[in-house]
Amino acid sequence: MATGTTGAGALRHIPLLPFGRIVEADGARITDIPTEKLLRWTEESRVLVLRGFPLLEKQEFADYCRTWGEVLKWDAGEVIDLIVEENPKNYLFASGDVPFHWDGAFVEADPRFFFFQCLDATPQAGGETVFSDTTAAYRDADPETRRRWAGISITYTTDKVTHYGGEVTENMVAQHPGTGVPVLRFAEPLDPAKYKNPVYATVHGIDPSEVEDFLTTTAELLHRPEYCYVHAWERGDIVIADNFALVHGRNAFRGPTTRHLQRVEVI
Ligand SMILES: [Fe+2]
Repeated sequence: MATGTTGAGALRHIPLLPFGRIVEADGARITDIPTEKLLRWTEESRVLVLRGFPLLEKQEFADYCRTWGEVLKWDAGEVIDLIVEENPKNYLFASGDVPFHWDGAFVEADPRFFFFQCLDATPQAGGETVFSDTTAAYRDADPETRRRWAGISITYTTDKVTHYGGEVTENMVAQHPGTGVPVLRFAEPLDPAKYKNPVYATVHGIDPSEVEDFLTTTAELLHRPEYCYVHAWERGDIVIADNFALVHGRNAFRGPTTRHLQRVEVI
């Protein structure tokens, strides 16, 4: 455990497993830490959990994120409120699980980071955010698997029912814009029988007879515990995540929740 000081007091660094880091503050504000430092910690840890920092007002939150880069503007604004709804149009606002994806797949610019602040949480009710480290999955893959992945691209299609939608084709293997290491861009298709707004995946570069098995084995690989950090939300958490190194999803809720997250995407 390392400690450091800001103008407002000591910070405690607590490593998470298998990756990620908690930085605890005692009275410091997020703006007391230089952005370059937080950016370096985020790239090193891939998920940075800030605890004990006061939350920001909605506009202040967007303005803070702007110190990291351009903030993605949705129709609903720069800050998306994620609150579980009873009759949602989109699965993101429902209480079931959210399969792995990266954020912003259906917008023109790929967000580098996403920021959450947790205004309310019901810790016993489930709904943990699960982050999977695709850089580790790539690192551990054998040469033949890597060669196969390098030849694959996937077209994802979904209808726009809330703040995103459309069609996008991505290579399975991409390069991290900050660290240069290979990353996997993989989103789990969403079955129309189970999810409010399905996402369809068309896989290019392998024999059609192998597609089903490819989708299943890739999802299983990324769900392995050694690649996943599971974040149980506490009120007051600020979480910064690397949207290129990781894919993420959410466990289903196990009961009623008052959870309220606000999210901003930085390009
Ligand atoms: Fe997401």
